[in-house]
Amino acid sequence: MTAALDINVTKAEQSKLSNLNLENLPFGKFFTDHMLEADYEDGEWKSIEIKPYQPLLLDPSLSALHYGQSIFEGIKAYKDENGNPFIFRPYDNFKRFNTSAARMNMPEVPEEIFMEGMRKLIALDSKWIPAIKDHSLYIRPFMFATDPMLGVKPSGTYKFLIILSPSGPYYATPMKIAVEETYTRAAPGGVGFSKNAGNYGGSMLAATVAKEHGYDQVLWTDAFEHKWLQEVGMMNVFFKIDDIIITPSLEEGTILAGVTRSSAITGLEEMGFKVEERKISIDELVEAHKAGKLQEVFGTGTAATIAYIKELKYKDYIMEFDIAALKTATAIKNWLAAIREGKTADKYGWIYKI
Ligand code: COI
Repeated sequence: MTAALDINVTKAEQSKLSNLNLENLPFGKFFTDHMLEADYEDGEWKSIEIKPYQPLLLDPSLSALHYGQSIFEGIKAYKDENGNPFIFRPYDNFKRFNTSAARMNMPEVPEEIFMEGMRKLIALDSKWIPAIKDHSLYIRPFMFATDPMLGVKPSGTYKFLIILSPSGPYYATPMKIAVEETYTRAAPGGVGFSKNAGNYGGSMLAATVAKEHGYDQVLWTDAFEHKWLQEVGMMNVFFKIDDIIITPSLEEGTILAGVTRSSAITGLEEMGFKVEERKISIDELVEAHKAGKLQEVFGTGTAATIAYIKELKYKDYIMEFDIAALKTATAIKNWLAAIREGKTADKYGWIYKI
């Protein structure tokens, strides 16, 4: 699609915004007045529309519901110090979206639809962007297969939508994490690197079991030995050992290439830390803890940004962290906030103005 994007806009008759207090919002519960919707049929994207947020009418045989061709992204929009809206690193999410699409045998969404559609939608609903600490407008682009048929094959039709949710912090308090040794999130050759719905559905039982034992989430380990550390809950994970930062490498395709992970690596290196992207085992972590060298563990993700971890449990061995001493997690959180708040120059070009 090379011509200027033709988006049909139908505005909501009345805004729902006056019914909502944009302070102390839960994550992902409220949605703005409008959404974007586009349909893929006969090899092209058609009927690109921005319209009032509304339910979808779906066929019960819809192939996404049965076979899981369904992918999504998470992006955040904020307001700058002058009240002007901007999106943080949306182009990286756009690229990852199409990486997920390719893995799930789904069509690509063209840049014009994803980026320009998102820009127009946010411009229309910009009053919904909360201008409060730790709040943002969470942007959820997603695509799913719509063929009404039960044969197992890639769907010929798809829907792409973007919805917007004014949201507060995902994790309000520091987390307790149990190292997972029964369930697996991803295996080499699988879909772990993609942001497909099934990765999240498949993770829920492990999280529920962890909760039954008093833990908030799990630290995923590899599929074969339950030894190599992967992700924490739905986030990338970072360890600080002896002043070196380590995060599992993306090489085996079992880990999501997090945009916040990438921002954190850039920031940590800028702060002078040595950052190693490599394999790290639970044994190395426990040894480091026993030697007094494991200083911090934290998660990174779009929804949470930086998540503090106060306890890690492996079998019967408990590793506790003093939250007040999690200096690096706080430093990277502040470093990112300073770029978003315009206190530091946007030298990496991460701010996408609306
Ligand atoms: C994100 O950080 O955007 C995530 O993937 C978490 C989301 C599923 C709520």
